[in-house]
Amino acid sequence: MDETLFSRRGFFRNAGLVTATAGIALASSGMLNLTKDAEAKGGPTEKWPWPYEKLDPENTAELAYNEWYRVFCGAAVISSVFSQLREKVGEPYKSFPIDAYVFLEGGMAGWGTICGSNAGANIVSNMIIGPRIAGPECENGAQIGADAMQWYSETALPSYTPKEPRVKSAIIQTTSNSPLCHISVGKWMKKSGYAISSPERRDRCARVTASVAFHLVQDLNAWKDNTYKPKSTWKAVSNVGITAQQNCTECHGANIPTPPSAKK
Ligand code: HEC
Repeated sequence: MDETLFSRRGFFRNAGLVTATAGIALASSGMLNLTKDAEAKGGPTEKWPWPYEKLDPENTAELAYNEWYRVFCGAAVISSVFSQLREKVGEPYKSFPIDAYVFLEGGMAGWGTICGSNAGANIVSNMIIGPRIAGPECENGAQIGADAMQWYSETALPSYTPKEPRVKSAIIQTTSNSPLCHISVGKWMKKSGYAISSPERRDRCARVTASVAFHLVQDLNAWKDNTYKPKSTWKAVSNVGITAQQNCTECHGANIPTPPSAKK
């Protein structure tokens, strides 16, 4: 139990008793509503970013590979980093519910949207560095997340080969040009000829997860050393006027639409 959180709550409980007897001044000052809002939205009771200690990328990749077989891509990336930080740092990592993120599997509940390993990498980097909205010193949390997606899109994956692969046959590499599960898995299935439920496809995704975890920890270590340099410059909303991935022509063909606001 968080001491300060607990005493804060205690404070507000007491404040409530005061209000019952002499509440008019407090209520009219609006103070009660403000504090209630702050608690609902986060604010002072939320304590993050969380401390980071440098990790070995290869160890992390091995953990991610094996965790894929338990909790799949998204939770495996989170687990590969946070399980080590549970040892090195302790709380709050010990209380983080890693397995809750099993829903990222299959591009979130099997819908083939964002590849869970990219979602996991973004959760980890934002938890450790902070969210964009928290100010300029937290900007790199989102930037490392964006870099993860750029790297995922441009790299022949899987790039990491586990020390003891569960599937011994060759696993080919494909470049997705997209951070989406459906497109990444689809291009690999087309080129390899393996079905979604095959051991080869499963091991491919476990290795992709390991590859993402490896790359993520390289970036986090560089950030910790103050040598991290942002790589992705993709800013879809300001560049093309809509949230987007970069592979426009794959979906739109030659006729990429112009967003309404840019027409006039
Ligand atoms: C994963 C597939 C996919 C990718 C990649 C993609 N789009 Fe789209 N986009 C769609 C679909 C589907 C719609 C829905 C409208 C439609 O049917 O044309 C849409 C809608 C839009 C719209 C709004 C509809 C309109 O006619 O104004 C714009 C603008 C747009 N896309 C531009 C882009 C640009 C620019 C890129 C690349 C930077 C891009 N899209 C990448 C699938 C995609």
